[in-house]
Amino acid sequence: MRIVVLTGAGISAESGVPTFRDADGLWEGHRVEDVATPEGFHANPDLVLRFYDERRRGVASVVPNVAHRALSRLEGAIGAELLVVTQNVDDLHERAGSRNLVHMHGELRRALCLSCGARPEWTRDLIDRPPCPECGKRMLRPDVVWFGELPYELDRIEQAVVACDVFVSVGTSGAVYPAAGYAALAAAFGARTVELNLVPSGAAVPFDEVRAGRATEVVPAWVDEVIAAR
Ligand code: APR
Repeated sequence: MRIVVLTGAGISAESGVPTFRDADGLWEGHRVEDVATPEGFHANPDLVLRFYDERRRGVASVVPNVAHRALSRLEGAIGAELLVVTQNVDDLHERAGSRNLVHMHGELRRALCLSCGARPEWTRDLIDRPPCPECGKRMLRPDVVWFGELPYELDRIEQAVVACDVFVSVGTSGAVYPAAGYAALAAAFGARTVELNLVPSGAAVPFDEVRAGRATEVVPAWVDEVIAAR
């Protein structure tokens, strides 16, 4: 049984990583346009680099929760039949042990060189304008996908979505495309669709099954059922 699990900020919320759309519309005190668009970066690179340096440090100090670990356990049980597609830029899925994983919105632990296109692993601050380890130019930005930019690995994701038997959406508000369209795409190709979320997203194309609850409760319970049913 081929399963695609799409995750969003809600799966990391109980690890202490803030979500985007649950509070006051601001993102840790900033307007999204200022810190998550190419235009915002162009207008005030120091603000943006400092913002992501702080987020990188914040994520380094939190740990995966039982929802991340349950998905890793599912991969242990069904192997490459499971693909986790995350919109999150934290590394909690891989720290929980997931390997068949796509970071469609990039990763905080990588930098992107605006000169040569390299995507080196990067865990130190970018505000100091360090040189790119590949080309030596001091033009590194966070390797996160901003509004107006194309997400990573869209072909691989779409191939998995149209071929899966079950599509599961975890902890995402369904506000940002193309990710928000994947459940409908999977359904159109015959998959059963499941939403596991604190507050059901009310998607335009309804999920076959919706389980409301905290990720740390509903995700391990769902994984146990899938493994037991094999
Ligand atoms: N358990 C399960 N779901 C939760 C929990 C929890 N403990 N806490 C919050 N949620 C749900 C919320 O109800 C909401 O539906 O998680 C969802 C979080 O939604 P968003 O904050 O919009 O995050 P996400 O969907 O990941 O955002 C998508 O938007 O800003 C961009 O690039 C950014 O990847 C991000 C994208």
